[in-house]
Amino acid sequence: PGIAFGLDAPYSVEYRDRIASTNERARELAGAGAADVAVVADEQTGGRGRLDREWVAPSGGVWLSVLTRPDVPTARAPLFTLAAAVATTDAAREAGVDAHIKWPNDVLVGGEEDAEGDVGEGHDGADPEATGRGGRKLAGILTEMEGEADRVGWLVVGVGVNANIVPETLPAGAASLSAERGEPIDRRRFAATLLERYAALTASPAALDGVLPAWRERASTLGRRVRVEAADGVVEGTAVDVAGPGALVVDTDEGRRRVHAGDCEHLRD
Ligand code: BTN
Repeated sequence: PGIAFGLDAPYSVEYRDRIASTNERARELAGAGAADVAVVADEQTGGRGRLDREWVAPSGGVWLSVLTRPDVPTARAPLFTLAAAVATTDAAREAGVDAHIKWPNDVLVGGEEDAEGDVGEGHDGADPEATGRGGRKLAGILTEMEGEADRVGWLVVGVGVNANIVPETLPAGAASLSAERGEPIDRRRFAATLLERYAALTASPAALDGVLPAWRERASTLGRRVRVEAADGVVEGTAVDVAGPGALVVDTDEGRRRVHAGDCEHLRD
């Protein structure tokens, strides 16, 4: 089941059929002083998600983590996460699946039609993740870093993509590329596109300047009514921009708020 592949990006690839977590492995490599390594696995037994959640990662997915040591201020680190979301979206689109980004860094399919209020009968009150309102999740990103003063030391961006996964084994509210396509996708090509795109978007400070515009173009969150569960409470309103970089700007009844992290739900307009 190997998905080892050639790559036109400045990373050496460490491929594993099975591993606990590619993020854990990348962090281990960071501790040993390595840089510019992509750890790629067919299956993870201890995949980790955002907010200390478990990430279900059976054989057939694209589970990968990129370790770099970018010479940028810590404040620009969120751009790497946004770049990974852009790269994943583009790779999915190249594979024929019309993906979009939900703030902060989920890659989704579907849900756009729901914005027009076209949610199926009888779905009101049901779990929005499970009914697909706001889209179904194709991929998630988990970034971990260690800084030195106000510079990034090492940065691990972990991307989990439900690539060739049968619908029966997907968590509720999730989608896979193969289920959308009706046939398996070429995972080598997908992973190579994702990594090459990520490398190009993060290649230099000038390249990083292009990340926010690229993210905005692919995001479905902006202009939508949202409900964000942030660390300091729930913020509800209209998402108007991303700034900061990476913070969601929300117009609420009490005025404009910036949300830096949290769970975001798209609401019906
Ligand atoms: C999320 O919660 O949405 C983020 C999920 C990130 C999962 C990926 S799979 C590859 C890498 N290794 C991990 O253990 N997690 C990330």
